[in-house]
Amino acid sequence: MIRAELDAFLAAARAAVGTAGVLTDPDLTEGYGVDWTRRWRSPAAAVVRPATTAQVAALVAAARGHRVPLVPQGGNTGLVGGSVPHAGGEVVLSLRGLDGLGPVDVLAGQVTAGAGVTLAALQAHAAAAGLAFGVDTGARESATVGGMIATNAGGVHVVRHGPMRAQVVGVEAVLGTGGVVARLSGLVKDNTGYDLGQLLCGSEGTLGVVTAARLRLVAEEPHAVVALLGLAGVGEAVSLASELRHAVGEVRALELMEGESMRVVASHRGAAPPVAPDAGAFLLVEAAGRVDPTPALSDAIARHAASAPVAVAVERSARERLWRWREAHPEAAAALGVVLKFDVTLPAAAIAEFCAHVRARVASGWPGATTLLYGHVGDGNIHVNVVGPDPDDHAVDDSVLGLVVDLGGSISAEHGIGVAKRAWLARNRSAAEVAAMRAIKRALDPDGIMNPGVLLP
Ligand code: FAD
Ligand code: MLT
Ligand code: ZN
Repeated sequence: MIRAELDAFLAAARAAVGTAGVLTDPDLTEGYGVDWTRRWRSPAAAVVRPATTAQVAALVAAARGHRVPLVPQGGNTGLVGGSVPHAGGEVVLSLRGLDGLGPVDVLAGQVTAGAGVTLAALQAHAAAAGLAFGVDTGARESATVGGMIATNAGGVHVVRHGPMRAQVVGVEAVLGTGGVVARLSGLVKDNTGYDLGQLLCGSEGTLGVVTAARLRLVAEEPHAVVALLGLAGVGEAVSLASELRHAVGEVRALELMEGESMRVVASHRGAAPPVAPDAGAFLLVEAAGRVDPTPALSDAIARHAASAPVAVAVERSARERLWRWREAHPEAAAALGVVLKFDVTLPAAAIAEFCAHVRARVASGWPGATTLLYGHVGDGNIHVNVVGPDPDDHAVDDSVLGLVVDLGGSISAEHGIGVAKRAWLARNRSAAEVAAMRAIKRALDPDGIMNPGVLLP
């Protein structure tokens, strides 16, 4: 990018958002250029922090006029390098200031939220009105509505409520064309042509900037129970997850932790797992509803896993203690070094084979590396975390993602493609599909200013 073009853009940006909303001091911009994993980093030319949709529209118009690439950023918890610059010279558009929350519409069971609202704030807002939000993840304190739409976030309740796109009734956004589109009226049925809001789900900031969303809320589930079971191996955990899901209608989370991974977490936490420390795999199951699901879950565990060691928690703080064993996995891996993260889905019948083979592949190709395997087993979603190999060694990516494709899986389950997996997109999507995606990109971002180099190779 030519310096004069950047300066002209920054002058327009200051006019749009005020001087305080434009950061150029490297001490202030540094954190916006590094992702959560520390694998993906590149300095931002500047950071601009709008607070309204009109300001976002002015910034996109200026970026078009001066050919300045924009990287939309919410909580910067994305794990595929899509939320930070990667070529150098991009301007980060931080959307955290768009944090308005409308009143909960109890009649419709909906709420309008700004793109910068965090998941935790949205959950608390819904709860105060006696409702709940259908998505939950371990990044709840930082991840934003805009980022969760842009990545089509999944999380721990997909088996019950679906991913982020299932919660999106409508979206307000500034497209790469500069056009502002808004469908926030909350009409559930609205077949008036292309659904641009759904198109933006999973678009990773490459088509436009999400500024607000109309979101569906779900019924509160005041009674909950969590069970953590120690099992012989991943195959047993996959089978039991399926049996419990069919037996107990209130199941809302089914999480897998492979035994070796749990022992890495135990060492990180300086404590032993509450059940079967030597188990080959652990399954965490949560059931919740308006009526206490504990008897139904206990009965199903007695029928399908009578001999498995199990810890059961009903009271909130006890449930949270069991959940910590699952939610501590990302931080335990990160504490060992820069993590090579692979978020993949496998057909249920292939999960056990995948876990065994991927661990063996990494061990033979990169002796001394640590592999953690965990994830949302109810959706077939496994998170492979490898620590040890050089973060620039893409042979690890080839080895892991090649196995996924060979077993009929997807190279991205819920985190997206970002820059981490763009070279592998064509292994999962046909030439016709990639060509259609490119055509959409050209139509909605004709100047190529929206997160260039992300998603599409
Ligand atoms: P960012 O990281 O800031 O951005 C992510 C992508 O969205 C980028 O491509 C960015 O350009 C784009 N983007 C951001 N805001 C906008 C906007 N307003 N308009 C257009 N594009 C935008 N993910 C899951 O799916 N399930 C999980 O269970 C889960 N657990 C996690 C646990 C931890 C500890 C961490 C660190 C991450 C986890 N994630 C999980 C990943 C991450 O939280 C999600 O991808 C989340 O949706 C990112 O939201 P964000 O606001 O941080 O977005
Ligand atoms: C999770 O489920 O913990 C997240 O998706 C984060 C990760 O993959 O580490
Ligand atoms: Zn996950």
